[in-house]
Amino acid sequence: MSQIFDVIVIGAGPGGYVAAIRCAQLGLKTACIDAWSNEQGAPAPGGTCTNVGCIPSKALLQSSEHYEQALTHLGEHGVEVQGVSLNLGKMLARKNLVVSQNNQGILYLFKKNKVSFFHGSGSFVDRSDALYRVAVTSRGTQGAKAQDEILSAQHVIVATGSSARALDMAPFDEENILSNDGALRMSEVPKKLTLIGSGVIGLEMGSVWRRLGAEVTVLEGLPVFMGAVDEQVAKEAWKLLTQQGLKIELGVKVQAVSQGAKGVKVSYTNAAGEAQSVVSNKLIVSIGRVPNTQGLGAEKVGLALDERGAIAVDELCRTSLPQVWAVGDVVRGPMLAHKAEEEGVAVAERIAGEHGHVNYKTIPWVIYTSPEIAWVGETEQQLKAASTPYRSGVFPFLANGRARALGDTRGFVKVLAHRDSDEVLGVHIIGPSASELIAEAVMAMEFKASSEDIARICHAHPSLSEATKEAALAVDKRALNF
Ligand code: FAD
Ligand code: NAI
Repeated sequence: MSQIFDVIVIGAGPGGYVAAIRCAQLGLKTACIDAWSNEQGAPAPGGTCTNVGCIPSKALLQSSEHYEQALTHLGEHGVEVQGVSLNLGKMLARKNLVVSQNNQGILYLFKKNKVSFFHGSGSFVDRSDALYRVAVTSRGTQGAKAQDEILSAQHVIVATGSSARALDMAPFDEENILSNDGALRMSEVPKKLTLIGSGVIGLEMGSVWRRLGAEVTVLEGLPVFMGAVDEQVAKEAWKLLTQQGLKIELGVKVQAVSQGAKGVKVSYTNAAGEAQSVVSNKLIVSIGRVPNTQGLGAEKVGLALDERGAIAVDELCRTSLPQVWAVGDVVRGPMLAHKAEEEGVAVAERIAGEHGHVNYKTIPWVIYTSPEIAWVGETEQQLKAASTPYRSGVFPFLANGRARALGDTRGFVKVLAHRDSDEVLGVHIIGPSASELIAEAVMAMEFKASSEDIARICHAHPSLSEATKEAALAVDKRALNF
C-alpha cells in the first residue's frame, strides 16, 4: 500500500527543502525524498549547496581569509602575531562541522513543519487516477524510514539539482582530478594547483588554495575574463586577483590531460595557438554543471527534457506533465541557491492556489573572492547592446571612511540608471562586503527605485553602504565625498 501525500518533493537542496517547508506551511501533506548521505551514511539534506557548494566553500573562504590576514594584514592594525601556521586538518574539520550543523538544521525544520522525510533515491513509477507514484529506494539509516516504498501524490516537485561537468578526456577521480567535491577536501595544500575554468568555482576555489600557499594557474577557454560581469568590474577584478598571485590564462584550448609520477599534466594551446603544458599536484575542473535527471524515471511518465538535458519548464516552473513542477539547478536559469529557493516557494504557493512570484530580473550574483564581487540587473555592455539610454555613477571605496577604517579600500560601487526615467537598471560592486551591500540594490530595483531615491535615503555613517548612496549621487554628477 502506498502512502498518499498532497505533494512529493524529490531532492532536498535549497530548491527542494524550502519548497517542502512552504508546502507544509500552506497545509499540504508533504513528503521530501533526498539521496545525499554523509560519510557515516546518515541523511545529509541540503544538496550541493550545503554539502559540497555554497556552505563549505564559504567556510573555507572565511578560514583562508583569516589565515592570509594573519600572515600579511594584521600588522597594519598594530596586531603583531608571530609564528602563524596552518592547521589544515582543523580548518577542514571546522568546515565539516558547519556542514553537519546545516544538515541537522534542515532535519529539524522538516520535523517542526511536519514534512515526512525519506532518505533514498526517488523515481517516477507511473501515473494513475490523477496520482503520481514515486518509488523511494531507501538508504534507511538514522531517523529515516528504512524500507523501500512507494509514495503517491497529486503534485510532484522535482528539485534534483546538478552535478559537476567533467572533461571527456579527464573523468573525476577525486584524488588528483577534482570536482568541487574533492576541491573542498584536499588533505594537504598542493604545491602547484591547476584549475580549468575561470568561472565562479575557479575563482573561489583558486582563491582558497592560493591563500593557503598553493601556486595556482587557471586555464580559461574564453578569450575574455568574466564575460557576464560588467566590464569595468571584470577589469578591476582581473587587476586585483592577478596581483594576489592567481595566474590566469585566457583563450586556451585544453588538448589532453595525463597523470604521471610528477602529477597531473594539462596540455593545451594558448591564445596565440602555441602548444603549452602545465604540470601540477592537483587539477580542479570547474567548467560548469549538468542537471541531474538520471535515475529519475522521467521516461516512465513522459517528463520532457530540454536541449540541454534540463527538465523543460515554462516561466511558472510547470513541466510537460500536469501537476509536475521542477525548480532550481535542474531547470533553465542561473544555477544559484537563492534562485532555487525562490522557485521552490513560488511553486508551493501555486500548488496551494496562491500567486507565487519570482522576479528573474532582480536575482543577485555574488562571487566570494577578496574583494567580493556582487551585482544585480543589467551590465553597462548589455545596456549599450540594447541601445538603452543610461547614466552611470561610480564611487570608489578609497573615498569611504569606513573602508579606510577597515583597511580595505579596494574596488567601487557602480549604479546604472535610465537616462530619462532615472530608474535603477543595474548595480555592480567590487569591494568589501559586496555580498551584503547588494541587498540594498536588489530592494531598490524590486521597488523600481530611481537613483535619486537611493541618493535621498539616509545611510548610517560610517558605513560601506554610504558608497552606494554616493554612487547614486554620482549618477547625477553630485557625489559629495569624491
Ligand atoms: P541541489 O542543491 O543540487 O540539491 C539537489 C538534491 O537532490 C541533492 O541532495 C541530491 O542528492 C538530490 N537528488 C538528486 N536526484 C535525486 C533523486 N532521484 N532522488 C532523491 N534525491 C535526489 N549558489 C549560490 O547561490 N551561492 C553560492 O555561494 C554558491 N556556491 C557554490 C559553490 C560551489 C562549489 C558549487 C558547486 C555550487 C555553488 N552554488 C552557489 C550553487 C548552488 O549550490 C546551487 O545552485 C544549488 O545547490 C541548487 O539547488 P537545488 O536545490 O536546485 O539542487
Ligand atoms: P561557470 O559557468 O561559472 O564557469 C565555467 C567556466 O569554465 C567558464 O568561464 C567557461 O568559459 C569555462 N570553460 C568551460 N569549458 C571549458 C574548457 N573546456 N576549457 C576551459 N574553460 C572552459 O561554472 P563553475 O565555475 O563550474 O560553477 C558552476 C555554477 O555553480 C556557476 O555557474 C554558479 O551558478 C554556481 N556557483 C555559484 C557560486 C556563487 O554564487 N558564489 C559559487 C560557485 C558556483
